[in-house]
Order: sequence, then structure tokens, then C-alpha cells
Amino acid sequence: MNITVIGSGYVGLVSGTCFAEMGNTVTCIDIDPVKIEKLNQGIVPIFEPGLETMVLKNVKNKNLSFTTELSEAIQNSEIAFIAVGTPMGDDGSADLQYVLAVAKSLGKSMQKRLIVVDKSTVPVGTADQVKETIQKELELRNSDLEFDVVSNPEFLKEGAAINDFMKPDRVVVGADSDYAIDKMKQLYHPFCMSRDRFISMDIRSAEMTKYAANAMLATKISFMNEIANICEKVGADANQVRIGIGSDRRIGYSFIYPGAGYGGSCFPKDVKALTKIAKENGYTAQLITAVEEVNDAQKLVIAQKIITRFGEDLTGFTFGIWGLAFKPGTDDMREAPAIYVIKELVKRGAKIKAYDPKAMHEAKTFYLKDLERIEYFESKYEILKNSDALILLTEWKEFRSPDFEEIKIQLKTPVIFDGRNQYNTFRLEEKGFEYHQIGKSK
Ligand SMILES: NC(=O)c1ccc[n+]([C@@H]2O[C@H](COP(=O)([O-])OP(=O)(O)OC[C@H]3O[C@@H](n4cnc5c(N)ncnc54)[C@H](O)[C@@H]3O)[C@@H](O)[C@H]2O)c1
Repeated sequence: MNITVIGSGYVGLVSGTCFAEMGNTVTCIDIDPVKIEKLNQGIVPIFEPGLETMVLKNVKNKNLSFTTELSEAIQNSEIAFIAVGTPMGDDGSADLQYVLAVAKSLGKSMQKRLIVVDKSTVPVGTADQVKETIQKELELRNSDLEFDVVSNPEFLKEGAAINDFMKPDRVVVGADSDYAIDKMKQLYHPFCMSRDRFISMDIRSAEMTKYAANAMLATKISFMNEIANICEKVGADANQVRIGIGSDRRIGYSFIYPGAGYGGSCFPKDVKALTKIAKENGYTAQLITAVEEVNDAQKLVIAQKIITRFGEDLTGFTFGIWGLAFKPGTDDMREAPAIYVIKELVKRGAKIKAYDPKAMHEAKTFYLKDLERIEYFESKYEILKNSDALILLTEWKEFRSPDFEEIKIQLKTPVIFDGRNQYNTFRLEEKGFEYHQIGKSK
């Protein structure tokens, strides 16, 4: 099948590449000429395990190409995916300007029947807006071309995106024509060989499914963080409680790690957008609002522990940070807890030495670019030299079982603040460390 994917970020590039891997002919579009130039030179602008190899292979096979020219690409396509960003607007709702700009371009340039698929995470009712926008442009051209608008939310996780896309738990498709459902089934058939994972439904339910899924996962995280905060007050250990409750299959072990809060490009903005969608429709989403409030506070729990230990004024103290990305396996720092922790410490006069296997470029270029008193190092042990404490903020595998002797030798004082509760089993106190973790009082 000939496909166009509009927006070549985390979702568009991964989806387009995986469709190409299955033998489709895919053109990935982006409005950013630098990104397209890089991709055409074989440089993948984001870090995602396995992506670069797959991109290069499919470009070589001529299954995958990159361009900024949308109108040219869609003339040969049966399906056009919209995978542009839907960032948080000023009022907390999803900003649809990029999605609707693409819809307009499609309406201006399509010359034959096209299935337009919303893959971006969009509020309920967006497919109707996309449809209206395209229809308006067609009318301006006196065209009566047929087209379908379909919702196909994406559930991939950064850091495991290729695997998630190639072996999805489910493929949710909201459509109101048999033609569109049939085409989408054909397209996704190679990804659903071992069992049927294709779930078709009405468009609004598909749009809502994505928000409901993210809100559920965010709720699990905030719930466990709230339990962890109570554990600290009552002298319980949140990690033991986690194991105790996770063993109940109705609860399960996933997404109940106490930690420094959720971040990333999806949960924060989607949780906020859902409360906004509810409000606009006359409903106050109390639980989901609380999930967000708990998370906002949680991002500063580690900073608070540091302040309790070292004092309100952190002038003269240096802290070594392991982990900047919002989670392991990605260079994405959008809404990462590290941003909030580091800014709070620097505001109080501290010096920061930071290390992350993939996200240091993002930190330097965007998220912490104007920050004073932060230095980046290529070695995780080097940052510890003369630091007053080690602060762990992202659970990269290389941090799981570090050389604690080396950490102790390098640090000025052997203090660890563990925002990811990774070192519970290492008996750090017996090794001579002062160990602070979330969900356990000292
Ligand atoms: N990142 C994730 O893990 C993830 C997972 C599931 C769903 N989503 C959703 O998918 C959507 C895309 O997210 P992302 O993380 O890939 O975003 P991203 O910011 O990485 O990529 C979006 C891309 O769209 C491009 N773009 C913007 N306007 C354009 C236009 N008019 N024409 C062509 N390209 C244009 C941008 O230049 C950018 O490269 C969002 O709605 C997001 O919520 C993201």
C-alpha cells in the first residue's frame, strides 16, 4: 500500500518506518526542513532503540522516503496519517493548530479518494473538525472528492516504540465507513498475525480510548506516589507495600513504582487535556484533576528531601545527577522530573553535575539551556568527584547495579537520593551510605 505519514517525530517516524518494514511504500513528511534533510542523509534525529537500523534498511529498499512536499506525496497514497504534535495549549487543552493545518493542506491538494487518519492524540470531536476543514477546502475547489476521516490512536511507548508498534497489544480504529475499516484492517494485518488485535469502533470512542488509557496509567502512578508519601509518614516502606499489592492480579505490578512522578510528552498533557474536555462538556473530573496535582507535587519530593538534609540555602553544595530523560530508552526530556528537581536545586544556589546516556544534548540545547551552574560529563563516575550527594532520577539499565565502592570513593559524602527506588536490595546503609528513597522515612 502507498502511505503518507505527516509529522516525522517519535510517532510519525516510528509508524512510517514500521509500515515500510512490512513492505508498504511510505513517504514521511515534516514541516521542518532540517529534520527532513538529516533523514535524507541517513541521520535519525531522535534516539529510539532499533529505529536507525530500520530506517536505513527501508530507505535502501526504497520503501521509505522523506520530503517536505505534502501535495506531491499524497497523490500516490491511499492513506494519509496525521502524526503531528498536539501540545498543551495555554488553557491546558490540546492545541490542534498543527492537526488542522495538515487537514487544510490535505483538502487543498488531494486529487483522489483518501483515507485521512488521526494518529495524533486528539480530543473527542477532532475527527469532525478535520472532516469539516477538508470539506471546506474541497468546496472552495468545487471538488466532490470522497474521503474518510479515521481515528487510530497510537499506544507506543518511547524507548520500546519499535517493539510496541510491530507487536501491538491492540490496534484501535474508529471509523464510520466499511471502506475505511477494511483498508485499515489490510494495513494492520501484518502486525496482527498471531491473533486478532484489531478493534474497530465509532470515531469518538476511539478518540476517547487514548485519553482513558493514559489517564488510567497516570492514575496508577499518582496513586502509588500518594501511598508512598503516606508510607513515609507512618513508618512503612512503599517498596514492600508495592510488592504486597502488586501480587494481587487485579492490581498487578506494572506502573506502581513509587518515584519522582511521571513526565514525558504524553501523560502530563493528555491528563490535563482530559480534565479540560470534561469541563467543556459540563463535567468536573475530580479524580483526574487530583492525579495531576499529586504528580506536580511529586516532582519536587526528591528536591524537598535534599533541602531537609542540606538546608534551604544550597550555596556551596554540588550534586551529581544520574538521569535527565523522563524515562530510560529515550532522549526525550519533555516534562521530565529532572528539569524540576535541577531547577529547584540551582535556584537555591547548588551546583549540578549531570550525566545521562542519551539526553544531555536535549538538556543543553533546550530544557536546561539557560541554567547557570550546571555541567555535563561523559562519565557517570566523573560527576561524583567532590559532589555532596548522588541523585538518581532516570532508571537507565546502566544505573541499576553500579560500582558502589567507586561511588563512595568519588563522593565527598556518601549520600544517595534515589528518585527511582532502584537500590532497595543493596543494603546501602551497611555499605556506609546514607540512603534516601521515596516512600521510606529515614
Ligand atoms: N511520543 C509518544 O510517545 C507518543 C505516543 C503516543 C501518541 N503520541 C501522540 O502523537 C502525536 C505526535 O507526538 P510526537 O511525540 O511524535 O511529536 P513530535 O513533536 O516528536 O513530532 C511531531 C512532528 O510533526 C511535525 N509537524 C508539525 N506540523 C507539521 C505540518 N504541518 N506538516 C508536517 N509536519 C508537521 C513537527 O515538525 C514534528 O517533527 C501527539 O499527538 C502525541 O500526543 C505520542
